[in-house]
Amino acid sequence: MMTRTRNLSQTACFLILVALVATAGLGCVAMKKMSLRSAMNPHAESAESVSEGATIYARECASCHGAGGFGDGLAGKKLTIPPTNLRAFIAERAEGYFASQVAYGKTGNPEMPVFVKTLSINQIWHVTNFVFSLGPVSKPTSSLP
Ligand code: HEC
Repeated sequence: MMTRTRNLSQTACFLILVALVATAGLGCVAMKKMSLRSAMNPHAESAESVSEGATIYARECASCHGAGGFGDGLAGKKLTIPPTNLRAFIAERAEGYFASQVAYGKTGNPEMPVFVKTLSINQIWHVTNFVFSLGPVSKPTSSLP
C-alpha cells in the first residue's frame, strides 16, 4: 500500500515536471517569436539580399505560395486551407511580423512549415525582403489563368 502511494505521488511529480518543462519551452518560443516580430530588419532591402531571398523563395516557398506569391502554388492546392496570398498579406503586415511567421509558423495551422531550424535568421530576412520587393497587391489576384 505504501509503495503504491509513493508510486502515485512520484508519477504525479513526474507529470508536473514534464508539464513545467513543456510550458517553459513553449514560453521561450513565444518570446522569440514576439521579439522577432518587433525586430528591425538588419538587411535593408539591398539587391544582394533580394536576390538571395529569391533563390530561397523558389526553393522553399513557391511550391505552396506560387512563384508570384499569390498563394497559388501547385502543392498548395492540395492543402485543406489554401496558402496565404503573400502579396495581400504584405499590404497589411510589417516585415518583422512576416519574418516571425516564417520562422515560427502560423499558430493553429501546421501546414505552414516552421523554418527556424532549416533557415538562418539572415536567410529568413532575405526571403522577407524578396517578398516585400514584389510589392503589395491589396486585391487577391491569381498569377495563374
Ligand atoms: C507546404 C506548403 C507551404 C510552404 C512550403 C510554405 N508555406 Fe507559408 N503558408 C502555408 C499555409 C497553408 C499557410 C496558412 C494559410 C492559412 O492558415 O490561412 C501559410 C501562411 C504563411 C504566412 C502567413 C502567416 C499568417 O500569420 O497568416 C506567411 C507570411 C508565409 N506562409 C510565408 C511563407 C514563406 C516565406 C515560405 C517559404 C520560406 C512559406 N510560407 C512556405 C503553406 C506553406
